Amino acid sequence: MTSSTEDALGNELQLSSARMMELAELASRLIVERIDSLPTEPAWCGGTRAELEAIMREDPPEEGRLPEQVLERAAREILPVAARVDHPRFFAFVPSSPTWPSVLADYMAAGHNVFQGTWLGASGPSQLEVVVIDWFRDWIGYPTTAGGLFTSGGSAASLDAFVAAREAAGAPDCASVYMSDQSHTALSRAATIVGVRPEHVRKVPSDSRFRLDMNALRSMITKDREDGLSPIAICANAGATNTGAVDPLAAIADLCEAENFWFHVDAAYGGFAILDEGVKRLFEGIERADSIAMDAHKWLFQPFETGCLMVKDVSRLESAFSVRPEYLQDTEWGRDHPNFGDRGLQLSRSFRALKVWMSIQTFGMKAFRSAVSRGIGLAKKAEEWIRASETLEIANPASLSVVCFRFNPKGKNLSGREMEALNERIQERVIETGTAMMSSTRLRGEYSLRLCIINYTTTWDDVCSTLEAIERFGLEALSDG
Ligand SMILES: Cc1ncc(COP(=O)(O)O)c(C=O)c1O
Repeated sequence: MTSSTEDALGNELQLSSARMMELAELASRLIVERIDSLPTEPAWCGGTRAELEAIMREDPPEEGRLPEQVLERAAREILPVAARVDHPRFFAFVPSSPTWPSVLADYMAAGHNVFQGTWLGASGPSQLEVVVIDWFRDWIGYPTTAGGLFTSGGSAASLDAFVAAREAAGAPDCASVYMSDQSHTALSRAATIVGVRPEHVRKVPSDSRFRLDMNALRSMITKDREDGLSPIAICANAGATNTGAVDPLAAIADLCEAENFWFHVDAAYGGFAILDEGVKRLFEGIERADSIAMDAHKWLFQPFETGCLMVKDVSRLESAFSVRPEYLQDTEWGRDHPNFGDRGLQLSRSFRALKVWMSIQTFGMKAFRSAVSRGIGLAKKAEEWIRASETLEIANPASLSVVCFRFNPKGKNLSGREMEALNERIQERVIETGTAMMSSTRLRGEYSLRLCIINYTTTWDDVCSTLEAIERFGLEALSDG
């Protein structure tokens, strides 16, 4: 008999309370050890399919194994073979650094197995989701008609928003939507899922700072209407992934109000930076958007799958999504008791609001505001450091917490191709030496290195040592020819 069956209380899938506690303590210890050792570990770890097949491929065992061994194996062989997105020197893509209370909230919500689709299914959690969504409403400056829901992430939030936009426009046959050439592909994918033809997902050119060009937008709309298209929505970036660019929100709001277009803001990356006073001013006009996608798993320090959609008039979201099947008739408690399953794609949903609530209750808003502002300050300081460097140049100045740059030593007159090869080499070296994790991008076709600094544990030392290493790797690559 294996020890897992010894643990069983008449049911082979059940563990005794004492064993549950032992295993929970072991799991907690393994996670805390990982968090403690993060700064001294590389910011990235991965493996090829062949390497990982050798470790993980097996048939499901017929008999259970010792749970300690199973947990240890997960913690040693599987979980670490991944990007350490919460590492203080993880600057790639968009980092995510959850607070400990938010991690515990995920565990608590899973432990209570909350079904957060209807008020009947989860009254307390639904009330808390109302409360936290109302916090977000106030941060944005939305009216009391506004509401929303937690989603898996920005992609799901924008998809839900486009369903509402399509319905608000009467679901025309030849619908078109507009977004900048810097918009995240999640938006074009969401638009095509709701039935907009790919060629009618219109990419508007951006200006020299990667912000949507209003004149180009207006001309495109005029031309499309002449060609028989029905524009339904305009999307703005409040923090484009590539550069952190913020589109002219107030001007887009003016146009949308004049033409009765749905105004959607993709603030998946940048949205929660609104907690910073300077960003709040930069985001002026966002409160006029019909919908806003914001990822708390990015700049509000939550674990993954804490996205959020906010809608200025939540009844428009509910009228697009609400369904009344007879088998759910008991769940209708009336207007004051929202069924969050009626605001989006998912009926079975986990209790995501608890993560945000527990972390804000624990640390208070002051701590969150200063953590957000610190990211912005570090990006600005990185820009200044790069500007003062003899070997690095700014490709796009810091915007929110993203700074784009490249190695291009003064006086060397490198060709575009040489520069690209050198910068590619630098990026590889940064990762293979375990210095940091950094991703690259292309700005108007030109290769660029990019730092996104939003981790609340990142210090100036982390940023500065990475920039120094980049200079060093660049000079070494240059002298190697
Ligand atoms: C600006 C922007 N929009 C949308 C997304 C997609 O969000 P998610 O990955 O949460 O689905 C991202 C992801 O990084 C993003 O940066």
